[in-house]
Amino acid sequence: MPRLDLKAGEVYRIEGLISLEVKEGKILVSGGLREKGDRITIPRAKSVPLEAETDAQIEYTLGAGGVVEKLPGRTIPSDWDAFLKEVIETRPRVVLVIGSVDVGKTFLTTYFGNRLLAHGIRMAAVDSDVGQADIGPPTTMGLGVFERPVAQLYEVPLRSLYFVGSMSPSGHMLEFIVGMKWLVERGLKYADLVLVNTPGWVAGGAGRSLQLYTAELVNPDYVVALQRQTELEHLLSCLPSHKIRKLTVSAKVRKRNPSERAELRALLLGKYFESAKSVVLNLSKVRFERTYVRTGVPLNPEKFGENILYAERVPEFTILVSKWRMSPKQIEELAAQHGPIKVIVQGEEKNVIVGLASDENEILGLGIIEKIDFARGQMVVTTPVTDVDAIKVVQFGSMKVTREGKEVGTVRPGTF
Ligand SMILES: Nc1ncnc2c1ncn2[C@@H]1O[C@H](COP(=O)(O)OP(=O)(O)OP(=O)(O)O)[C@@H](O)[C@H]1O
Ligand SMILES: [Mg+2]
Repeated sequence: MPRLDLKAGEVYRIEGLISLEVKEGKILVSGGLREKGDRITIPRAKSVPLEAETDAQIEYTLGAGGVVEKLPGRTIPSDWDAFLKEVIETRPRVVLVIGSVDVGKTFLTTYFGNRLLAHGIRMAAVDSDVGQADIGPPTTMGLGVFERPVAQLYEVPLRSLYFVGSMSPSGHMLEFIVGMKWLVERGLKYADLVLVNTPGWVAGGAGRSLQLYTAELVNPDYVVALQRQTELEHLLSCLPSHKIRKLTVSAKVRKRNPSERAELRALLLGKYFESAKSVVLNLSKVRFERTYVRTGVPLNPEKFGENILYAERVPEFTILVSKWRMSPKQIEELAAQHGPIKVIVQGEEKNVIVGLASDENEILGLGIIEKIDFARGQMVVTTPVTDVDAIKVVQFGSMKVTREGKEVGTVRPGTF
């Protein structure tokens, strides 16, 4: 096994796959202190700095893609540490981190979490990157509470989840913004300081709204703006200037291309469902959210035709679940008799991703719908959630996925 002797102050970049053990001395990985006997693994395509706090010795094994590279100096810009000093002095409760894609937002959150934890500040992080969430599975936002130093944000233990329903906040702005507030509030119960890591969607009408309403709602003490040039100025001009701290983007950010991102999303989701099993939910014991279905008054399906398995009146229309696809003419005829009609073909619900929550809307985990049997009043979902009796709420998402993590379709939010 290769050994490496480090002199105090030396800096290395390590990229996965690599496993290492500290044999002597003290090192900092992503700003987290590691000592003799500590072991660290960095997965493939992730890169973090390793700094020798004292003279030290490590032993390591490289896997596919693994790199150990000595650098001429630190990868942490000096203004990051100056800001940390200000945080230690002023003790803010909420710090919002904004920046475009690939500027090091997630790394900064990890580094700040580690450094401030070492100063005795109880730290939490809200990860609102719903596509490649580090805290919690894709389609969710997560709250993690730092308990010990971590090399990567995903090692921070998960405390609370909020289901957004898709791999992007697009089309789910309200869920996003409510989830953000919900998680920050929870974070403040467990921690002195909550770091809020936002998605890299910073421009366009929706991107601006997402960032600015988030900033307004969570009311941070500081907004950390990680920008390469001037790409955040249009947002910063709308925020109180005394809260803004512009920090430098590290030259050592490792960028990810779109195919790497898509691969990572599928990998994370597939991994989440690895241990999933089929479970049967009794519809009389769960409530549905984020769908029209089961929010109205049930009707006798027989009066709509022999193909109709289930009928329900909601204020907007009558929902019919049909055994087969109906022609526009048939639907028109029914509408002439009964008013506006919405037909769902049995089986259309298959593969829709759902959030499974407790009565207090605490997300217990995700599920993939196998089927809803309206006649028997049952629903079958694939889920890793083991405490099935605790599931009281099913929140409908807008994506169809397989348990391998493949995206196989979308559904309009609110229906399936
Ligand atoms: N200051 C730094 N020193 C060393 N490595 C860094 C630094 N900042 C970022 N990196 C590395 O660069 C990569 C990309 O950074 P990160 O994931 O934090 O960016 P991001 O802005 O969160 O990206 P995304 O837009 O995908 O959310 C990571 O592997 C991270 O460890
Ligand atoms: Mg990120």
